[in-house]
Amino acid sequence: MFKEPDGATPLDPDEIGGLKFDHITTRGELDELEQANITQALQWLGRRRGGDILTEEFIRTLHRRLFGEVWSWAGSFRLREKNIGIDPFQIPVQLRYLLDDARYWPANGTYPPLEAAARFHHRMVQIHLFPNGNGRHARIAADILLSDYFGHPPIEWANGFDLQADNLRRGDYIAALRAADGGVFDPLLDFVGAG
Ligand SMILES: Nc1ncnc2c1ncn2[C@@H]1O[C@H](COP(=O)(O)OP(=O)(O)O)[C@@H](O)[C@H]1O
Ligand SMILES: [Mg+2]
Repeated sequence: MFKEPDGATPLDPDEIGGLKFDHITTRGELDELEQANITQALQWLGRRRGGDILTEEFIRTLHRRLFGEVWSWAGSFRLREKNIGIDPFQIPVQLRYLLDDARYWPANGTYPPLEAAARFHHRMVQIHLFPNGNGRHARIAADILLSDYFGHPPIEWANGFDLQADNLRRGDYIAALRAADGGVFDPLLDFVGAG
């Protein structure tokens, strides 16, 4: 139905059924609605008091805030297999492992801040928690980790490009994630400015 850029997860018909607006026919219309929702969520994030990014509850709340005006399933874990991501049945336990690992890193100085954020981001999108919006959610989540656990400024993810469209920056981003899938992290570290 909607043409996706390379490295995106197409929606199943029942997921498309969760769209809260009728009469959307183009990817551009959907992008605008999602972007308006994200803008509201970023304002909420700016005013927020409390909430720990290294908890399942806040991870889900963040997704619901980002996409809940557009998709009825926002904040609910994926139930379908996708071209990216683990078996949906394993999502809660793999997220638990990730959150436990990520909590260990700042406490023990395992990685410099940008590397911790890059590894956290990659594991989140590799698990692929939600039917859609995983990239955008996991980029914001990594920035919250940087801020709240390391007192570090956010990553320049887009760097002047639109990361939701096919362009050189997205090409580098997707290639870096694929390298990280194979255990090679240098391209992703370069991408986030930690190289
Ligand atoms: N090979 C890969 N390994 C891990 N993550 C990937 C891979 N390819 C793409 N991704 C991630 O998946 C995202 C696309 O998933 P999607 O749920 O459609 O997110 P969004 O709707 O925010 O773009 C990409 O932005 C990227 O973060
Ligand atoms: Mg998508």
